Amino acid sequence: MENLSKVDPEIAKAIEDELRRQQGTLELIASENFASLAVMRATCSVLTNKYAEGYPSKRYYGGCGFIDVAEKLAIERAKIVFGADHVNVQPHSGSQANMAVYFSCLKPGDKVMGLELSHGGHLTHGSPVNFSGQLYDFVFYGVDKDTEIFDYDEILKIAKKHRPKIIVTGASAYPRTIDFEAFRKIADEVNAYLMADIAHIAGLVAAGVHPSPIPHAQFTTTTTHKTLRGPRGGMVFCEERFAKSIDKTVFPGIQGGPLMHEITAKAVCLKEVLTDEFKDYQKQIIKNAKALAEVFKDSGYRLISGGTDNHLFLVDLTDKGITGRDAEVILESVGIVLNRSTIPFETKSPFVTSGIRVGTPAITTRGMKEKEMEKIGKLMIETLENVDNEKIHTEVKNEVEKLCDEFPLYPEL
Ligand SMILES: Cc1ncc(COP(=O)(O)O)c(C=O)c1O
Repeated sequence: MENLSKVDPEIAKAIEDELRRQQGTLELIASENFASLAVMRATCSVLTNKYAEGYPSKRYYGGCGFIDVAEKLAIERAKIVFGADHVNVQPHSGSQANMAVYFSCLKPGDKVMGLELSHGGHLTHGSPVNFSGQLYDFVFYGVDKDTEIFDYDEILKIAKKHRPKIIVTGASAYPRTIDFEAFRKIADEVNAYLMADIAHIAGLVAAGVHPSPIPHAQFTTTTTHKTLRGPRGGMVFCEERFAKSIDKTVFPGIQGGPLMHEITAKAVCLKEVLTDEFKDYQKQIIKNAKALAEVFKDSGYRLISGGTDNHLFLVDLTDKGITGRDAEVILESVGIVLNRSTIPFETKSPFVTSGIRVGTPAITTRGMKEKEMEKIGKLMIETLENVDNEKIHTEVKNEVEKLCDEFPLYPEL
């Protein structure tokens, strides 16, 4: 930082301020996490300087010997962690991993089936404001109106009616276990490929605390920066018979030079994933989500689907007289950061929303456990139920700061 402060004091200050913000707030955004110092060291390395179009031992540039070591390690480790035939570790992001699968199997106008955005799907699963919805003819499935959980018979009916080429499963906001085997049966019945987007639950899958889609889906995509706790980026897994086509689609199809500093950091992350400590961490994420969800339930809040099996839960604020947007703003003012979220069968706009999404990966990285979840849940509810009471907000903020001090983040920085 010393050098950066001299060269560009404004940016150095923005980075320093962001570090302090992360250290001094409770991070409940379900898609965020805190990468280790080792992962961050790799992203900040000289590998950012290197062009390496192509793949290990088949590059279009000289000087790629050490780069190959890094990418080969990332590939080997990803295959071991997820038990996959083939992986491409070059996608710059989760969106590009999804794009790679679509571009390798589909022509513009082809029919694809994905989870409705307001039921927990992702923009790249067919939203009209995203390339996926603009290029392909997406049809959607959702959750059951009563249980708010996938109804696999209903999903089969929709698949039979529309006969998509790909069925996309996986979600950004679905608090329950996904039955990938059931999805594969549905895909087989209509002669579709199954693509599982495990961007959110990759860490849980890697640790064996959520079933893996790898034995069932022809294609599995992920991000590396959410529960997996790596650097920003994506990966695509596929059966061996699709390996060439996926690789060709990623490069030269949709990307140029790979981000080798990020790929190197993916390798570091995957080494961490192979430890027992990581497995315990993933188990604790789920225990924490359940404990925090319980506080909301006990206080009379309605949770989508009644609870959670994974790293997140969704709170329906409709009968609490506060919107998701207002809840997000008021909670941030006391140092608790999360995001508003649409809920299934949403009646408000995505900008306003009726719900909030609460995730535990980041606070679990800080070492917090069930006892702290109880405290955090109570602080959140106290804030939400006293939106105009500044005295209470100040008290909550002090408690949040105490918790952050007790569980320091990046004390070395
Ligand atoms: C299910 C899912 N897929 C894909 C993505 C896209 O990842 P990225 O933001 O890296 O493009 C996300 C991001 O939130 C996601 O939740």
